[in-house]
Amino acid sequence: MGEFDGKVVIATGASTLLGQAIVRAFAAEGAKVVMADIDVENGQALAAELGDAVAFVETDVTSDDSIDSCITQAVERFGGVDCLINMASTYLDNGIGTSREDWLTSLNINLVGGQIFSQKIAPVMEKRGGGSIVNFASIAGKVSQPGRMTYSAAKAAILRITGNAAMQLNPQNIRVNSVSPGWTWSSIMKMATGDDRKKTDGVAAPFHMFGRTGNPEEVAEAVLFLCSDKARFITGTDIAVDGGYTAMGPEGMVDAVAKLME
Ligand SMILES: NC(=O)c1ccc[n+]([C@@H]2O[C@H](COP(=O)([O-])OP(=O)(O)OC[C@H]3O[C@@H](n4cnc5c(N)ncnc54)[C@H](O)[C@@H]3O)[C@@H](O)[C@H]2O)c1
Repeated sequence: MGEFDGKVVIATGASTLLGQAIVRAFAAEGAKVVMADIDVENGQALAAELGDAVAFVETDVTSDDSIDSCITQAVERFGGVDCLINMASTYLDNGIGTSREDWLTSLNINLVGGQIFSQKIAPVMEKRGGGSIVNFASIAGKVSQPGRMTYSAAKAAILRITGNAAMQLNPQNIRVNSVSPGWTWSSIMKMATGDDRKKTDGVAAPFHMFGRTGNPEEVAEAVLFLCSDKARFITGTDIAVDGGYTAMGPEGMVDAVAKLME
């Protein structure tokens, strides 16, 4: 028996490495999963690998029609929806120099898309007696990072409004929480380093108490926990899956750098 037998999950941004780990984890626990992403190639490949329990539905979270169509297809295929994972994102960000057009594009994908998805999915979840929404925030929503503005703004807003949504959807028995990953081994890191995990871990080491980047599977475990019945008394909060990044002040970093130099 899987922990999510009979449950249906929609995961936006699921075609990426991190998203795929979440899809695999839910499918392994018996869930039916709809991957909602604009990346058709990677999404379809994983859906084909995992069989009938996983469907890829090309979905653009900046389009209301596209979100509606995704929800309709999920209900037609699997009978309803119990969990929504809002992961779709863009790193489009030119820091203080970001144009208005890029600001609006970034906020539309990183922030507004997920919230419109939540708004539209709520009545569908209510028909099943409730549900669980997990928003992807980030360490970027908690601390300042070089060169970032739009991404940080979106992630900080997600941390704030997760509580608001939890209050407003509580009458429908829908819990809303977020996860805030630290540096996680992901598609963008794989690309930037030519698939060199060791190099990435070396750069991440001073910022994370565990001296490495997180694994996508470690983020997936927190997401599954928040969607599970074990988290039935948890709503409106954030789980930091950041290897101690946000707990560690500058002095901890000095120690870590000294250790690296040994
Ligand atoms: N990678 C990290 O270190 C890290 C750290 C903290 C938080 N996060 C968060 O985790 C999530 C995944 O991160 P990632 O690094 O894998 O990101 P990524 O950029 O590799 O993947 C984002 C996914 O969103 C999809 N997407 C983009 N625009 C879309 C749209 N309009 N509609 C639907 N899908 C769209 C992309 O196709 C892609 O599959 C994001 O929410 C990110 O903010 C990542």
